[in-house]
Amino acid sequence: MNDKAPAGTAQRAYNDLHEHIAALDEAGLLTTIDEPINKDTEMHPLVRWQFRGGIPEPERKAFLFNNVTDSRGRKYDIPVVVGALAANPEIYRIGMGVDALDQIGPRWDHALGNPVQPTVVETAPVQEIVLQGDEVKGEGKGLDALPIPISTPGFDVAPYFTAATWITKDPDDGVQNMGVYRGNLKAPDRVAVMMLITLSAGGYYHWKKYQERGEKMPVAIILGCPPVVEYTGPQKVKMGVDELSVAGGLAGGPVNVVKAKTVDLLVPAEAQVVVEGLIDNEYLEPEGPFGESHGYVALEEYNLVMEVTAITRRKNAVISSIISQVTPSESSVIKRVAYEPMFLSHLRDTLSIKGVKKVSMHEPLTNLRRVVFVQFERGVPRTEIWRALYGISALQPAVGKYCIAIDEDIDPESGDAVFWAMSYRANPALDVQILKHRARGHGPVLQGVDSDSTMLIDATLKADMPPVALPKKEYMEHAKELWEKLGLPPLKPESPWYGYSLGDWNDDWDLAAKRAAEGDYLRNGERTAQLKRKLEDPQIPIRDVLGDDFFDKD
Ligand SMILES: Cc1cc2nc3c(=O)[nH]c(=O)nc-3n(C[C@H](O)[C@H](O)[C@H](O)COP(=O)(O)O)c2cc1C
Repeated sequence: MNDKAPAGTAQRAYNDLHEHIAALDEAGLLTTIDEPINKDTEMHPLVRWQFRGGIPEPERKAFLFNNVTDSRGRKYDIPVVVGALAANPEIYRIGMGVDALDQIGPRWDHALGNPVQPTVVETAPVQEIVLQGDEVKGEGKGLDALPIPISTPGFDVAPYFTAATWITKDPDDGVQNMGVYRGNLKAPDRVAVMMLITLSAGGYYHWKKYQERGEKMPVAIILGCPPVVEYTGPQKVKMGVDELSVAGGLAGGPVNVVKAKTVDLLVPAEAQVVVEGLIDNEYLEPEGPFGESHGYVALEEYNLVMEVTAITRRKNAVISSIISQVTPSESSVIKRVAYEPMFLSHLRDTLSIKGVKKVSMHEPLTNLRRVVFVQFERGVPRTEIWRALYGISALQPAVGKYCIAIDEDIDPESGDAVFWAMSYRANPALDVQILKHRARGHGPVLQGVDSDSTMLIDATLKADMPPVALPKKEYMEHAKELWEKLGLPPLKPESPWYGYSLGDWNDDWDLAAKRAAEGDYLRNGERTAQLKRKLEDPQIPIRDVLGDDFFDKD
């Protein structure tokens, strides 16, 4: 953990966005583009190739655009960074300030259980420039002066806030909420926002309270948060807990906050830009179309609309934009690394299910929430496996349309391996349950149905099975050395790449296989000659003829 304190702020234990970008550069995880790039037509399509062009996940980088232009030929004084939060888990790890990927989960567990209240400071970098009144109205001013990209040119109706963290406050108890919500730029001083009712967006619940009171809702949109703050926005933190205090838990020290200029809210002092304003309590406005994280275009619908009252920013502001839409994307990585440990901890620590090894959310194209795998060590009672399947499907309304229990030897990242488990380790009549009345969640509406359902599948081994039919590990390892010595093309081992026992195997067969590998198969023939029997038909298992205990005695 590092101690940093730019002029005007208290000590802090986390990086701001500038420091984070520098850390990515040092780690070789930043591509800097100095030539002019059109934010309306070129920026997101360029970074999109990183996710649709066959580039392996560890090789994905953040892109820093220093020379941002638009389709009206304008230039912007604020650089834009795309992918800097979570183009891959390693980038997220650096943003979290942990030393290894496997520390991300424990860090989340710790932060959720040990929030640290923010520190209020008097002066803040994010208020070096304050624009209000006429300064945020008219073309080329206000939001129109910010380099907000179009995410899905050809379908999106406007530039959209994607990495925007929206802060609202419960008017009853004063507790703030932070959520990442899409924002449709409408005018230099107006933006529409979609706070999903189906995902229980905290901002929406606050708005309902303001609506009942007949008051507009104060809101602050944070662009370019310190990464630990940004990561708490998409995390599902229970209502009534201020995500800024969870960010403090992640950082291991309080987040500095400052009073916003025109609304009664506290905002991160080291943010890059803050847009302050009021969400109307009566009028809604059409919002969209916009390419969404579930992989389809969200069509126009009535949503909340905010009037801008002020924009505050740093002199040297840089802002981030999250690349979302069809998965994998930055949006799915940012959620995945935070959600998987939270679901694992729910099963292991809250429901006390023993033998759960891993929760894995399927990412490519399906977007995490629909297909969830739960991996178990061997020997966990079926009743516990089913408790875990029910538990995983019940924690959040939108997560777990298909929940599949698998064994430790099945790689959840491999669709082939999962189909393999479903094909040989599950009997649909006995090992599948369908549950009705699941919330539809985030995605296009299935025609004519107002709720979805869940399929739970137990694809774990129910009894011992014969070994996986690949050469034993030592033969495959030796062959790999040989392969490399022969200068054959480089290998990328795919699981399973060697054979192993699944329980139904014995010392006699093992010895016979060893003899064969040593060139002594004739002795195996001598053994079976002793065991000849007169039988009516072939294909009768040896244990059915000689008895179950034959091998024990042998
Ligand atoms: C890039 C990105 C965009 C998102 N857009 C929205 C959105 O437009 N509306 C929404 O309700 N949730 C959206 N989410 C999901 C929420 O951020 C997430 O559900 C979060 O938990 C909301 O916080 P809350 O529970 O405090 O409201 C988005 C997440 C990411 C990573």
